[in-house]
Amino acid sequence: MATMRTRRRRTRAATERRRGARSNAPAPPIVELDQATVVYPGGHVGIERVSLAVDRGEFIFLVGPTGCGKSTFIKLLIRELEPAGGAVRVAGRDINEMSHNRIPNLRRRIGTVFQDYKLLPDRTVYDNVAYSLRVTGGTRADIKRKVPDILRLVGLAGKINNYPEQLSGGEQQRVSVARAFVNHPPLLLADEPTGNLDPATSIGIMQLLYRINRTGTTVVVVTHDKTMVDKMRRRVIELYEGRVIRDQAAGLYAEDESTTEFGVRVRSELGIGEGHTNGDPGGHPEQ
Ligand SMILES: Nc1ncnc2c1ncn2[C@@H]1O[C@H](COP(=O)(O)OP(=O)(O)OP(=O)(O)O)[C@@H](O)[C@H]1O
Ligand SMILES: [Mg+2]
Repeated sequence: MATMRTRRRRTRAATERRRGARSNAPAPPIVELDQATVVYPGGHVGIERVSLAVDRGEFIFLVGPTGCGKSTFIKLLIRELEPAGGAVRVAGRDINEMSHNRIPNLRRRIGTVFQDYKLLPDRTVYDNVAYSLRVTGGTRADIKRKVPDILRLVGLAGKINNYPEQLSGGEQQRVSVARAFVNHPPLLLADEPTGNLDPATSIGIMQLLYRINRTGTTVVVVTHDKTMVDKMRRRVIELYEGRVIRDQAAGLYAEDESTTEFGVRVRSELGIGEGHTNGDPGGHPEQ
């Protein structure tokens, strides 16, 4: 394991060097808001002059009370909303200057997990995930290979033929994470992925997002659960009435914490016993 980690670190360093060799400029942040303001029809301000940058590979929590602008932020990044002022850049490109026919490509590169799951009720778990590959141009061979793989990653290999109504809330949420991640997007946005789940199941979902982050994907998680967030020791951005009121760097944590170590630590810090693992996709090899 240690050798694998070292190798991964070396590979990353080599990629950085190659990038550096091509140009002297460092890679731009994956997400950058520059004084972004959203005004809804009727004049309500969703977010106001928000400036922030998210680097590749970060794991970020976006917190704040209801109505503070968290979903507005997510919708801005997938261009469901356009800013009234300021700029929104994804991987260095101003997404509001993109032509309309480039938007599907932008959305293919950003996985989104919605709070209400948005699963198709008349399709099985397999078909729900396959559907998102199909609409983004996946071939039949892609689908046959990738769908079982991602369902194993989220711990749902045994429920492949179930319909959404035959799943628990935590399992439905894992299908929605699988669907968002099946294209291995560089950026994953999750809007309250644990909104309706009990604490033990929530940790299972967080553990899954943590595992995905360890594959190199930048993860932004919207949540109300400040207690859990503070225990997880990742960067926290807090909004209040549309403005950033806190942007706190990650607390101390072991850089090489494995997914399992992470789960054990957070469970123990939250005082949740090992017995409750119904949202935990554990038992899979470490990524
Ligand atoms: N389509 C809309 N038209 C007008 N106002 C809107 C619209 N969508 C959101 N708002 C308002 O913009 C503000 C921010 O909304 P947003 O959905 O981003 O909040 P949020 O932080 O995601 O809240 P929650 O935690 O409840 O999901 C709220 O005051 C909301 O009422
Ligand atoms: Mg919201």
